[in-house]
Amino acid sequence: SGCNSESRGALVVLEGLDRSGKTSQSSRLLKYLEGLGHSVELWRFPDRSTNVGQMISSYLSNKSQLDDHTIHLLFSANRWEKRSLMETKLKTGTTLIVDRYSYSGVAFSSAKGLGDEWCKAPEIGLLAPDLVLYLDIQPEKAAERGGYGDEKYEQLEFQRKVAQCYQVLHDASWKIVDACQPIEDIEKQLQELVLECIMACQKGKPLANLWS
Ligand code: TMP
Repeated sequence: SGCNSESRGALVVLEGLDRSGKTSQSSRLLKYLEGLGHSVELWRFPDRSTNVGQMISSYLSNKSQLDDHTIHLLFSANRWEKRSLMETKLKTGTTLIVDRYSYSGVAFSSAKGLGDEWCKAPEIGLLAPDLVLYLDIQPEKAAERGGYGDEKYEQLEFQRKVAQCYQVLHDASWKIVDACQPIEDIEKQLQELVLECIMACQKGKPLANLWS
């Protein structure tokens, strides 16, 4: 197969509103790629296992209050603390499926009214995804799915703003997938897109930094 140890892994990010199906599709992708014999890991942001991640988790569950700028920088710091490990994994041939990344960072904070450019600044220099899979769902549909828990951002009005903020972030690395299709149809589309991306990375597509 094309999985020689010289080639790098792909950085694949899943984005979308809360309840868009990112998390279940991420684990399906992981199983699929493992089944094909790829070296692959599933990551997610926020990574709640670190000290910074615990501060974020406490904020999201309304156990602590933080200024909007402060929490924004913590989300960003939480990605920075994983950057070098991320680069090592990719360079040694492991593909990373990442459930949320810098786009969530910018979309959720700018939905609160923080400026786009200000929100993007701390993300500059993080690794740029090779592929962003955006699971597209109307906020009303996502809310109907139920399971909006008690976390801070899981409210229809706010998710509407987030959806608008995501729209201005689309670039060439984005593929928009209709998240209202049957789960298996979405799964198939994601598989094809990811395989294509992994192939391009194996063929030497260079790693880049945000925002490019
Ligand atoms: P999760 O439900 O995927 O664990 O994400 C928790 C919440 O944090 C979710 O509502 C999106 C939000 N978020 C941000 O506001 N900024 C970020 O940088 C990330 C990664 C998530």
